[in-house]
Amino acid sequence: MKELIYRIIFKKLHSKNADDFIRYISREFDFSKKKAELILNSPPAILCESPSKNIIKTALKNFKDLDARVSVQRVIKDERLPFNIDQWQLKWISKLLNMTLMVGVDSALLYVMVQPETKGNELIPLTGKESEIEKGFRESDSVYVVDDNKILFLGFTTDEDGIEILIPKIIQNIKNVVQQGAIIKISHAIFPRDGYSFYELIHVIQKKLNVNATPRKKSESPSFSKKSPEESKHSHTIPIKNSIYSTLFNDARGSLFNQLITMDLELLWDGLRKLSLSDQTLFCLRLPYNSPLTTILSERIKSQAPSKKKGIDTKKRMERLFSTMDFEKKQTQRKKNQTAVIAKLDRLESLSTIPSVAIQIYNVAMDPKSGIDDIQEILQLDQVMTLKILKLVNASFYGLSQKVTSVKEAVIILGTDEIINMAFGLSLAESFKGPCLEGLIDPKALWKHSVKTALIGKYLCRGRKKFADDGIFAACILHDFGKLFLIENFPDEYRKIFELSKKMQLPIYDLEEEVFGYNHGGIGGIIAKKWNLPESLIQAISFHHHPSSSESHAGLAAITGFANYLCSFDEKRSLPKTTFLLKDHLDILESVLDDFTINSIEDAVKNSKIFLEENKAIFSLFS
Ligand SMILES: [Fe+2]
Ligand SMILES: [Fe+2]
Repeated sequence: MKELIYRIIFKKLHSKNADDFIRYISREFDFSKKKAELILNSPPAILCESPSKNIIKTALKNFKDLDARVSVQRVIKDERLPFNIDQWQLKWISKLLNMTLMVGVDSALLYVMVQPETKGNELIPLTGKESEIEKGFRESDSVYVVDDNKILFLGFTTDEDGIEILIPKIIQNIKNVVQQGAIIKISHAIFPRDGYSFYELIHVIQKKLNVNATPRKKSESPSFSKKSPEESKHSHTIPIKNSIYSTLFNDARGSLFNQLITMDLELLWDGLRKLSLSDQTLFCLRLPYNSPLTTILSERIKSQAPSKKKGIDTKKRMERLFSTMDFEKKQTQRKKNQTAVIAKLDRLESLSTIPSVAIQIYNVAMDPKSGIDDIQEILQLDQVMTLKILKLVNASFYGLSQKVTSVKEAVIILGTDEIINMAFGLSLAESFKGPCLEGLIDPKALWKHSVKTALIGKYLCRGRKKFADDGIFAACILHDFGKLFLIENFPDEYRKIFELSKKMQLPIYDLEEEVFGYNHGGIGGIIAKKWNLPESLIQAISFHHHPSSSESHAGLAAITGFANYLCSFDEKRSLPKTTFLLKDHLDILESVLDDFTINSIEDAVKNSKIFLEENKAIFSLFS
């Protein structure tokens, strides 16, 4: 996924033979003459990037012959990032983000792309121009030019209002450097609100940019330079003036979100319309797939038609709502809780709660040189586990025709990955013996729910080896692990969340986001990260309630979340009103599960119940 490559940067030409230099770089790196001249006249500038040391060596020799001074940078190429980044820049950004956690303030990460206004034109390379772009900002704010036309800006901030002040300043400073017509596209994410790592923030940023770049009409060009006036008005390239709307609609979760979606439709739409297209879409994605409002708002977002009710003073009504909702008070409390959660997570001793046998099993899984014998060696020491695995393998669940009597045989029949995932999941049972939230959540019940979810997850993935290999069983076992952390560390807050969920019929994860700024999935993902579990598991756990936010394992996250959803139906196949399936969740399921449509849900509920009934003997293993 990550690759180290080399980047050559032009610094200075010593010889007087500029023509030879321009000819060489135009031919070698396919630059236009205009671009080659700009590079020569405005160093430093990026000349080339390559993973091959030989190519770089040859180029360096040629530059030496031309009497040109160049330098070589080690750069990280990572498919999760829309740019290649100097490895020191990456280290610094991660370090600064971690530092802000300690200080307990938010950081804004802004991503800026600069393009010439006219096609065929070339802009002065921004490489090395950090200090000019940084002019007028606080010392704590820093600019990282990652490419000749891509910039990252990291600054301490308090809220969206802070960003509104930053954006015009950055645009002006860039314009001063490039000195001619440029299209500047900016998007941002706030740490830790929008993500716990640099990659998660970039994911949010990219998502906003993609939504913004989506053409409104089929006839329109997808290029962001040709946006409709309406889109430009709301685009993130221009600061949003209506911060009250942006705060209300972007940050409301749980009960606040519920107040918004139950207000008068025309008023709701009039307010939502003031947001950027990406924020409108993100708001809509928080609604259940079967909510009538999802269809209505999706259509409104597509047409951008004005509100049907004339003469409503939306701003006044929103301001009133804002104050009656105690929005600011709740936001401040959420920030405090968020900081407390992060502080507790930071202090969480690495691997303190995961059984050592689970870690040993995963070490085997991660080592390409290990095989059946290594697994057997670990399991030999744990007879109970061996017995459980054999019972599981022999259950009708796998439909094997012959009885399996040894782990070795089980590995031969089902494969190493399958047994590793199973053993890992089973070994985690111990971890679910945490505190009990009396009368509300019993860790034993949570464990049972996790096992049920894991069985349904396996059922959904039958015939889909990829998801089995990525660890659907372990992902489902661990999907709600974050709840244990919250119950243990914040019992009073969690009790309130639980009671409110029942009273207002709202999903727990959404109320968690309202109170803590994170849901249990995100917290479980952070713990999984601390345990050094594979990225597929981290993503599936983190995003089982919001799979479209997953960078690289949206499918696994969607199936984990769907297994959880199916598990929530009771014996009479009715669903608690506190369990939702979101629209984007359904879209991902349709893309990863063959023949899956909205109409398949009913069958999936029925079949998963039958499947669980057939395999109920398995539960005796987990008591
Ligand atoms: Fe969950
Ligand atoms: Fe769950």
